[in-house]
Amino acid sequence: MKILRVKNYNEMSDKAVEFLLNELSTKPNLVLGFPTGKTPIGFYKKLSKLYKNNLIDLSKIKTFNLDEYYPIKKSDKKSFSYFMSHNLFNKVNINSSNINFLNGEVKDYEKECEEYELKIKKFPIDLQFLGIGINGHIAFNEPGSIKDSKTRLVQLTKETINKNSNLFNRRNFPKQGLTMGVKTILSAKKVVLLASGKHKAKAIERMLNGPISKLCPASFLRNHKDVTLILDERASSLL
Ligand code: PGA
Repeated sequence: MKILRVKNYNEMSDKAVEFLLNELSTKPNLVLGFPTGKTPIGFYKKLSKLYKNNLIDLSKIKTFNLDEYYPIKKSDKKSFSYFMSHNLFNKVNINSSNINFLNGEVKDYEKECEEYELKIKKFPIDLQFLGIGINGHIAFNEPGSIKDSKTRLVQLTKETINKNSNLFNRRNFPKQGLTMGVKTILSAKKVVLLASGKHKAKAIERMLNGPISKLCPASFLRNHKDVTLILDERASSLL
């Protein structure tokens, strides 16, 4: 694993942009995996600004998002679909037919997950961006997720619900999600994990120095041959 240590959130976001631009320069039709959450917001803002200034072209890329709540309407402000439209997709020139998302509106979630797996097999992800949960989750692969897990319906832990429902009414917050599995994530050619802040330091330390185990799903990234961590000072303070 390669570790890039930077000063703060802003520099972490800059490095993520730099990484992407570098990959795009050799392959303009990259297949990208995108996360949601607070961590990538700065990264998405910078990409939007680059596009506004005519400095990036995303017209040929394909995207796959990691996860979505279930059940949820795309128009729901809590949905990750809404988050991505609002923070990135409406602000850059990604072709809407190239955007792939797990659909939280479907009844047959098993079919939805199988089809997502098949699509990813057909268009393998070149570069997967990731965040990490304070409990060591990646996407909605909560502790207990095995390394062979595929795209599926999962129960969210209380801590994930508590954290993600911050800005919303907690009572009717979704308790389940659809997520790429650990195996699906590890099938990407390259993975870049971003982490910022002191509250992430313990998860980063466990991911790197603890046992490789389903108790910390992020630790399975140590089995991947091309992972780069972009960590700010606080997130890497326990290393
Ligand atoms: P965050 O979430 O970016 O909001 O910290 C990351 C995650 O839970 O995977």
